[in-house]
Amino acid sequence: MVFLQKFSIMISEKDFITSNYSRIETATFQWSAPSNIALVKYWGKKAKQIPANPSISFTLNNCKTITKLLVSKKENNKHFSFDLLFKGKPKEDFKPKIQKFLERIEIYCPFLKEYHLTIDTENTFPHSSGIASSASGMAALAMTIMSLEKELNPFISDDFFYQKASFLARLGSGSACRSIKGEVVIWGNHLETKNSSDLFGMEFSDIHPNFKNYQDTILLVDKGEKQVSSTVGHELMHNHPYAEKRFNQAHENLSKIKTILSNGNITEFIKIVESEALTLHAMMMTSMPYFILMKPNTLEIINKIWKFRSETEIPVCFTLDAGANVHVLYPENGKEKVLEFIKNELVGNCQNGQYICDQIGTGAKSI
Ligand code: PMV
Repeated sequence: MVFLQKFSIMISEKDFITSNYSRIETATFQWSAPSNIALVKYWGKKAKQIPANPSISFTLNNCKTITKLLVSKKENNKHFSFDLLFKGKPKEDFKPKIQKFLERIEIYCPFLKEYHLTIDTENTFPHSSGIASSASGMAALAMTIMSLEKELNPFISDDFFYQKASFLARLGSGSACRSIKGEVVIWGNHLETKNSSDLFGMEFSDIHPNFKNYQDTILLVDKGEKQVSSTVGHELMHNHPYAEKRFNQAHENLSKIKTILSNGNITEFIKIVESEALTLHAMMMTSMPYFILMKPNTLEIINKIWKFRSETEIPVCFTLDAGANVHVLYPENGKEKVLEFIKNELVGNCQNGQYICDQIGTGAKSI
């Protein structure tokens, strides 16, 4: 029996449990999903990938993962059975993460155990570039799983399809839930955002033309493995001396940046975005144990951006994720001059002179 999902405002985890579905012999689904860069940062989480504070991000366009899922019906449905390929070749070291993810989502997607899964994945950005592929990777995988679910139950609504994809992606890697749909995505309960949820990301669409096609040039400062993973970093927000203040600040900054994104005030945008980036790293420096993910070149770049901005009045700013790389954010009409500045002055601070040009995108796409 197939059925229509009904949605109330308060969606709970139970709403994502699928019990009615048909069966197929074999099928293939392919999706691309982008990375995203947070403007108000998620740092600190509770059990089951529930964020300690709400966050908001720009969806990227060029940095993405492309994932193909091939399913074929199997006899025994007691265990998960899957092959994990990276660019068509077996990739054993990715398997434990996927196994854990499948176990986490089993209750919501019980049909998965009825198939052997072949997951073939690749990224458009260089491997080990210091750009986390977990957000785009988990989002792309979640989309293929939802395509399978839709094949088994064609009557699910579009809203349910994307919300559950975001919900599943979150269980793989928290920020992945912001890589599903929309140019700007909010994730996490926020009093001033109607329908916001800790369970999945929601599109924020009231965006001023000043932020259309906003550019993000990612300067690859350090392509090595991080000394401290995000998972450990999130953990260290438990019993962190500034945690409560920080979480409250994120709520306030989210309220402010929503207004700014709607009214187009780039000067105010810069203040929030840069302060959020430095606050994220301040949390790392003040946790116990403490750690620093920025490198000398990260700071050099930040100082050069500040100098360039004050000299040219071009509204270029930076943000950081949990690493040393710098995301340079600027409006499309500043592109020519900023790229010239990057080539002339910042490339020397990048590892092997590498950087990636990206801009706001709209989310995952079926291929
Ligand atoms: O999704 P995770 O667990 O990799 O955490 C991401 C955390 C930051 O990138 C630092 C901030 C964010 O909101 O994306």
